[in-house]
Amino acid sequence: MKAVVQYRYGGPEALQIRDISCPVPRKGEILVRVHATSVTSSEAKMRQGLPLYGRPILGWFGPRREVLGLEFAGTVVQLGPGARRFEIGAGVFGFTGMRCGAWAEYLVMSENDSVERMPQNVSFEEAVALVDGPTTALFFLEKAHLCPSERILVNGASGSIGTAAVQLAVWMGAEVTAVCSRANHELVRSLGAQRVIDYHTEDFTRERESWDVVFDSVGTSSFCRCRPCLRPSGRFLSTVLGVKILAQVPLAALFCEKKAIFSMSIDKRRELARLRDLVEAGLHKPLVDRIFAMEDIRKAHAYVDTGRKKGNVVVRIAQDNA
Ligand SMILES: NC(=O)c1ccc[n+]([C@@H]2O[C@H](COP(=O)([O-])OP(=O)(O)OC[C@H]3O[C@@H](n4cnc5c(N)ncnc54)[C@H](OP(=O)(O)O)[C@@H]3O)[C@@H](O)[C@H]2O)c1
Repeated sequence: MKAVVQYRYGGPEALQIRDISCPVPRKGEILVRVHATSVTSSEAKMRQGLPLYGRPILGWFGPRREVLGLEFAGTVVQLGPGARRFEIGAGVFGFTGMRCGAWAEYLVMSENDSVERMPQNVSFEEAVALVDGPTTALFFLEKAHLCPSERILVNGASGSIGTAAVQLAVWMGAEVTAVCSRANHELVRSLGAQRVIDYHTEDFTRERESWDVVFDSVGTSSFCRCRPCLRPSGRFLSTVLGVKILAQVPLAALFCEKKAIFSMSIDKRRELARLRDLVEAGLHKPLVDRIFAMEDIRKAHAYVDTGRKKGNVVVRIAQDNA
């Protein structure tokens, strides 16, 4: 099968397309024909061996896994012994975790890991766009216990997590302020944001307003800067790990009414199922920015490296059911 392989850390040129052997499903596993995968900002960092503190997991001097790629949407084509959650031919979407392998024509997954039947009313390209940002946004909003009529500010509202967070927070009944550059104001308004702040010209931490939740989806702010604009019992959410947030989470829990929250969305099965139901009910829309062919995986990475993507970047692997 064809796969995108990587043997050293580096820029997009470190990626190559090669023929490698197809994985075989073992007990409790399924073989998935991958139709679409994505390139996220986390994967663009992993390609470079970043963050450095992640190297024990990623691999010290080069990627531990030959095939990276964490998100997939595709069709179940073979069942390992005892696997019975899915039928052959079922459309599924999911997250491989550090086992990786999604930038390939086929992958194996344990049927009990982060894999679910995909929504019936979207394409594979749209389904895969639900796997990274939207599941992470849902995971964090539930950690914050966002309530109807609360006020939330989403920083990085035009990114993968941000565009999903805006939609989900609106669906949860919250009043949403979105922070992004002017070029993306119309986009985030169309997702339901009531108020939009351009981070190039305004600093939301200096506004006279306050919010119950500040969701920093891109890691450009901090708990200390946001604390004054959080209401009493306010929550600051950060998706990006750093020394500061690691120290602030326990300190805020001990000494402050306002909370700082960092976590990692890894086991995504519950969120995948909830997003599928929302999408099928017409309550959430996957946001695809650009679609690249597998042969153009380097171009997809170069685009993600700009830091300017809107929503999700998808890579089409296969268009048939072979
Ligand atoms: N903790 C977890 O479980 C978890 C899970 C997934 C991802 N992550 C991490 O979360 C972070 C965000 O991921 P993502 O995929 O959502 O990001 P993304 O889609 O790559 O974000 C791109 C967006 O960020 C906006 N942006 C850039 N600089 C900004 C600034 N200073 N202020 C506001 N917006 C800005 C850009 O808008 P403009 O073009 O308008 O600037 C662009 O639309 C990454 O660091 C990723 O590794 C964490």
